[in-house]
Amino acid sequence: MPSVLIVNGPNLNLLGTRELGIYGAHTLADVEAMCHKAAAALGLEAQCRQSNHEGQLVDWLQEAGAEQQAGRLIGAVLNAGAYTHTSIALHDAIKGAHLRVVELHISNVHARESFRHHSYISPVAAGIVIGFGVEGYPLAIQGLHRLAAAESAR
Ligand code: DQA
Repeated sequence: MPSVLIVNGPNLNLLGTRELGIYGAHTLADVEAMCHKAAAALGLEAQCRQSNHEGQLVDWLQEAGAEQQAGRLIGAVLNAGAYTHTSIALHDAIKGAHLRVVELHISNVHARESFRHHSYISPVAAGIVIGFGVEGYPLAIQGLHRLAAAESAR
């Protein structure tokens, strides 16, 4: 069964207790359960990972690129948290590994502080899902599935 990787970056382990008015009451475990369900409905296995460490995220994105090239993975949904706004290393990893990525943000970052308006991920993302709350995760998995299917039909 092909896989889809769901990567959550720094502080997303605090979902359910962190800034509830912005991120809502769902925990990371709830989000991962939603991802498994959405992936299974498409015949995919969801691999869910979270790290607060930039280098660990780089390693996972590089590995995922190799898995995608081998035809075992359709790509990754990436909520890079605050590294979205700072990390050239994540940008380079996605580009260098030729990984199909859907960038995701739970909140509408464009309606928040100006330092959240710039993303190093967007220029190397195949698509972007922003501001749908945690419902964005299943939407991103569905979008990634469609993009991968369209590209393999070409
Ligand atoms: C976030 C938005 C980022 O600006 C923030 O640093 C996060 C979460 C979101 O999901 O809305 O940690 O990526």
